[in-house]
Amino acid sequence: MGWLSVAYGLVSVFSLVVHSVSGIGANWGTQATHPLPPETVVDLLRDNGIDKVKLFDADYGNLKALGKTRIEVMVGIPNEMLASLAGSVKSAEKWVAKNVSEHMTTNNVNIRYVAVGNEPFLETYNGSFLRTTFPALQNIQSALIKAGLGNQVKVTVPLNADVYASSSGLPSGGDFRTDIHDYMIPIVKFLMDNNAPFTVNIYPFISLYIDSNFPVEYAFFDGNASPINDGGTYYYNMFDANYDTLVWALEKNGFGNLPIIVGEIGWPTDGDQNANLDYAQRFNQGFMTHISGGKGTPKRAGPVDAYLFSLIDEDAKSIQPGSFERHWGVFYFDGSPKYQFNLGTTNSGSLIPARNVKHLEQKWCVMKPSAGLDDPQVAPSVQYACEKADCTSLGYQTSCGGLDARGNISYAFNSYYQTHNQLDTACQFPNVSKIVKTDPSTGTCIFRIGIQQYYGSADRKKGGLQSPLILVGHLILFLLTVL
Ligand SMILES: *[C@@H]1O[C@H](CO)[C@@H](O)[C@H](O)[C@H]1NC(C)=O
Ligand SMILES: *[C@@H]1O[C@H](CO)[C@@H](O)[C@H](O)[C@H]1NC(C)=O
Ligand SMILES: *[C@@H]1O[C@H](CO)[C@@H](O)[C@H](O)[C@H]1NC(C)=O
Ligand SMILES: *[C@@H]1O[C@H](CO)[C@@H](O)[C@H](O)[C@H]1NC(C)=O
Repeated sequence: MGWLSVAYGLVSVFSLVVHSVSGIGANWGTQATHPLPPETVVDLLRDNGIDKVKLFDADYGNLKALGKTRIEVMVGIPNEMLASLAGSVKSAEKWVAKNVSEHMTTNNVNIRYVAVGNEPFLETYNGSFLRTTFPALQNIQSALIKAGLGNQVKVTVPLNADVYASSSGLPSGGDFRTDIHDYMIPIVKFLMDNNAPFTVNIYPFISLYIDSNFPVEYAFFDGNASPINDGGTYYYNMFDANYDTLVWALEKNGFGNLPIIVGEIGWPTDGDQNANLDYAQRFNQGFMTHISGGKGTPKRAGPVDAYLFSLIDEDAKSIQPGSFERHWGVFYFDGSPKYQFNLGTTNSGSLIPARNVKHLEQKWCVMKPSAGLDDPQVAPSVQYACEKADCTSLGYQTSCGGLDARGNISYAFNSYYQTHNQLDTACQFPNVSKIVKTDPSTGTCIFRIGIQQYYGSADRKKGGLQSPLILVGHLILFLLTVL
C-alpha cells in the first residue's frame, strides 16, 4: 500500500510536470496560393503532437476543422479590423458571436485566446494602429464577458519584441520603448486585470538579418558565444536575454508577474544567406531542447509557452521585409518536413509528413534548349513569371543561388507553371519554354511539383489563385506587352 501510494504519487507528479512543460504550439498562416485543405493541416498538427495553434484571422473552414480536436486555438483579429472594433462595441460583439461563440458551441472548437491585432506597434506601421489597439482590446474583452466566455477565453495582443528595449544593452535595463510607453502601460495593466497574457514575438534571425555585426553564435542555443554578464547573471543566447528584457520591463512598471506567451519563434530556410536548413534546424531544435526541461530563463523560472513560426511555408506572403518571408515553415508548402526535428511528441522522434497530399504530375516547365540567352523574349518572361509566382529561392546564397543563367530562367518558368496548376498555357513563354518530364533539380535547388488547388471556402480564394480564365487574360496581356 505504502509503495503503491508512493508510486502513485510519483506518477501524478510526473504527469503534472509533463503536462506543464509539454505543449508546443505552431502558427498556422494561410497566405499561400495552394493552402493544404484544413483537415489535412489539422491531421498534420495531431500527428505531430502539436496541441496549440495560433491563427491570424478566424477562417471559418480552418476553425471548423479544428473543432474535431482538443487543440487549443488562438484566433486572430487582423490589424485592418482594429479601427472598426475600437469604434463600436456592437461590432466587437458581432465578431465574438460569429468567430468565437459560434465555433465553441456548434463546432466544439477549443478557443482559448483572441489575439487582438498582429504586431500593431511595429515601427513600419508608423503608428497607424496606436490609438485603436487598446479600445479594440477593451471591446473584445467586454464582448467575451457578455458572451459568458470571460473565464475561458483570454484576450492578448501579439507584439514584436521591438516594443521594448534596454537602455544599458543588458536585460536589466529593459523598459517599453519611449515613444509608445504611454500606450503600452494601459494595455499591460488591462491584461493583468483580466488574467490575460502578454504575447511577444522574438526573432534572433531578424537581428542577424538587419545587423551584420550581430554575433551569429549568440542567436543559437548551443553556440560558443561569450556570455553577457548582467550583474552576475550570465546570458548565453539571445532568446533568454530578450525574454528577460521583457520580464524586467514588466517588473519595472509594476507587472512583474504577468504571464508571457512567445507568440512566434523560428528560423527561415531560404531567401537569405543566413536562412538555410542547417541554421533553421539548429535554432528550432536548440529552442525545443532549451525549453523542454521547463526551467525557463534566468529571470523567470518555469515552462516557456511558445508557438513555432511557422507550421507551413506561405508562397503568397509579401517579401517586402525580405525574400526569407516565404520560407518560415517547419514543413514545405506540401506538408513535407524540411529537416530532422524532434518535438518530443512523436514515437519516431521526427516530424510526420502531411497525409494524402495530392501532387500534380511529374512534369516541369523549363527554358527551351534551342532558345538563346539573348532572345528578347527571355527577360520579360522571367520578370513576369517571378512577379506572378515565387523566385525567392534565387539570389545570393539561397538554395538555388548556384544556378547558371539558363537554370535561373528555368526555375522562374517552372515556378510560374506549378503555381498555375501545370496549365499548358502557363508554359507558353513565347518560343522560349517547354514542358519536360525529367527533374531539373540539382543539389540544394529543388524544382518543385505543385499540389492540387483546394477550393474549400470562399474566404481563401482571395489569397489563392484566380480562375484559369483570368490566367488566360494575364497571358494575353503579357503577350501584348511583350510583342
Ligand atoms: C469573423 O472573422 C472573419 C475572418 O477574420 C472576418 O472576415 C469577419 O468579418 C468576422 N465576422 C464578424 C461578424 O466580424
Ligand atoms: C511610413 O512612413 C514612411 C516615411 O514617412 C513611408 O515611406 C511609409 O510608406 C509609411 N508606411 C506606412 C505603412 O504608412
Ligand atoms: C540568377 O538570378 C538571381 C536572382 O534573380 C541573380 O541574382 C543571379 O545573378 C542570376 N544568376 C545568373 C547566372 O544569371
Ligand atoms: C517564334 O519562332 C518562330 C519561328 O522561329 C517565329 O516565326 C515567331 O515569330 C516566334 N514568335 C515569337 C513570339 O517570338
